Amino acid sequence: MIPNMSDMQTQVGIVGAGPAGLLLAHLLHGHGIASVVLETRSRAHIERRIRAGVLEQGTVDLLIECGLGERMQREGLVHHGIELRFSGRGHRIDFSELTDGRGITVYGQQEVVKDLLAAREAAGALPRFEVADVSVADLESDRPAVRFTYDGAEHELRCDVIAGCDGSHGVCRPSIPDAAVTTYEREYPFGWLGILAEVAPSTEELIYARHERGFALHSMRSPELSRFYLQCEPDADPDDWPDARIWEELRIRLALDLDEGPIIEKGVTPMRSYVVEPMQHGRLFLAGDAAHIVPPTGAKGLNLAVADVRVLAAALRDFYAGTDAGLGAYSDTCLRRVWRAEHFSWWMTSMLHRFPGGHGFEEKLQLSQLEYVAGSRAAATTLAENYVGLGQRI
Ligand code: FAD
Ligand code: DHB
Repeated sequence: MIPNMSDMQTQVGIVGAGPAGLLLAHLLHGHGIASVVLETRSRAHIERRIRAGVLEQGTVDLLIECGLGERMQREGLVHHGIELRFSGRGHRIDFSELTDGRGITVYGQQEVVKDLLAAREAAGALPRFEVADVSVADLESDRPAVRFTYDGAEHELRCDVIAGCDGSHGVCRPSIPDAAVTTYEREYPFGWLGILAEVAPSTEELIYARHERGFALHSMRSPELSRFYLQCEPDADPDDWPDARIWEELRIRLALDLDEGPIIEKGVTPMRSYVVEPMQHGRLFLAGDAAHIVPPTGAKGLNLAVADVRVLAAALRDFYAGTDAGLGAYSDTCLRRVWRAEHFSWWMTSMLHRFPGGHGFEEKLQLSQLEYVAGSRAAATTLAENYVGLGQRI
């Protein structure tokens, strides 16, 4: 039972139980800082939500450091390269060689979320699921509030700081006055159809394919589960993509003799680049998709959310130790990495997708760039070090 409105208080109020909100709660717990996480969806829903799958080395290192690495290290698939496929040929980008042994781990976002929830449960601090009518107030005071309804009753959570971790459609970002922020945005004229299939991957490493019919990506979740993405219309209806059409299109675009299996999940994601500056207002701090969106081609969304939260948790630790310089610099610190990832994601997207109504000129540029990346160590290193992540260097 949730106590009465006036009774609820904590140090950090966290809106949203995605990877950003849950990891922040976990890191704060490690620093002895209390928090309450409020989430509109049910636990079952957030545990089943299939999204990203590529963890940068820095993300993996942080999860291990904070005690969340056990299952990831057992079940995650460590990769040391990817393949770029275009003009009917594959070209391997060798991360280990180009980035001093760094790599990535393929481990589903929903598995990270499950591990985070298990840790929250063990700490006796699960999020409050299925809250509604969430709003934030008094952001410019030193005692801001999160208001919400639960089980039909209204509640108010008073705190020192609010972390807006409520994703791209949340309430925190729109609560900042328009005049206090600048937004930067780019929409792409296509989306991704994401597919999960019960079949062993037909490749050992991820394949990113540029094809005249559109982009395709072969990824995976385990030795028995394959994950695929196909460029599609931004508003495509997954029902227009029956299984036979999906397999045929994947075979053509990937130029691969694919094994087929039952498709157990299908969904369309539109593609967008978006950044709000600054990522803070008064005592509200935005993290993850609430502050920025990248098109998924560079696999950066989840990793950026983790990186924001690492910075925010450290700043809050210092804040409670009496220094607020870290909180003051939060947005500037995060935005350096955010813009690097924005550029990389835009670049990968531009290089690999078919642009409707595109002209021969752009296509020639794409192919020239791909050939340069495949053939030049300097160009391949640029891709490799951005893909595995720039770690603490940015
Ligand atoms: P989210 O995971 O979105 O979490 C936000 C949470 O806040 C959610 O649980 C939501 O239910 C909750 N919430 C929303 N509004 C409220 C509210 N008012 N009050 C309380 N709670 C609220 N990235 C990749 O790198 N590769 C991919 O293939 C990929 N695929 C994606 C597919 C989809 C459909 C989407 C939406 C994103 C995808 N991403 C992908 C991006 C990646 O998943 C996100 O960057 C990552 O989830 C960001 O984590 P987050 O915690 O910031 O936000
Ligand atoms: C996956 C998602 C991505 O956005 C990407 O670039 C690579 C892999 C995945 O879900 O496995």
